[in-house]
Amino acid sequence: MIPDRLILGFDRALRTVFGPSRSSRPVPGEALAEAELGPAERAETAALMRVNHVGEVCAQALYQGQALTARNPGAREALEQAAAEEVDHLAWTERRIAELGGRRSVLNPLWYASSYAIGAVAGLAGDRWSLGFLAETERQVVAHLDRHLHRLSHQDAKSRAVLVAMKRDEAKHATAALHLGGSELPLACRTLMRAASRVMTTTAYWV
Ligand SMILES: [Fe+2]
Ligand SMILES: [Fe+2]
Repeated sequence: MIPDRLILGFDRALRTVFGPSRSSRPVPGEALAEAELGPAERAETAALMRVNHVGEVCAQALYQGQALTARNPGAREALEQAAAEEVDHLAWTERRIAELGGRRSVLNPLWYASSYAIGAVAGLAGDRWSLGFLAETERQVVAHLDRHLHRLSHQDAKSRAVLVAMKRDEAKHATAALHLGGSELPLACRTLMRAASRVMTTTAYWV
């Protein structure tokens, strides 16, 4: 018999990659007016939101992969809870892409599969390193979101509200992972992670 966790995991993967995702919280900036963006600015914003959506697809996969191999039940529960919060981010960015008339990355299945594998390997390294990896990922995401907030049009209050709310959550996830006993990763590892995320963000901007 196939274990329930495997079926649930597969169902989650399909929903993450093909959507739609449902938010458990209100969409940030929902009540704000849509900014009047020119065609080029609109396309640029949609591309940036596609990059952020891919980031959330990767976050889902990383968390799921880590939860699969986490040894300590407390760590596994925390990883699953954080993954549930990341579903909101997925839903918010998905919706914003649609509102801007953009499209999601065609490479989402590939992003998911590779991040899942990375998450599972991080989980195998033990909870201390796995949680350290998570904290570092979230810190890099916070820095990335700051860069996008600089690039986004100041008029686009709706997109900005989504990114600001995501940034707040990601910072909270980083702190939680450290509190659960995550270790600081070696510099080489952090540099490699930054390089890998650069490949992802650059590619996702176009496809
Ligand atoms: Fe997120
Ligand atoms: Fe996060």
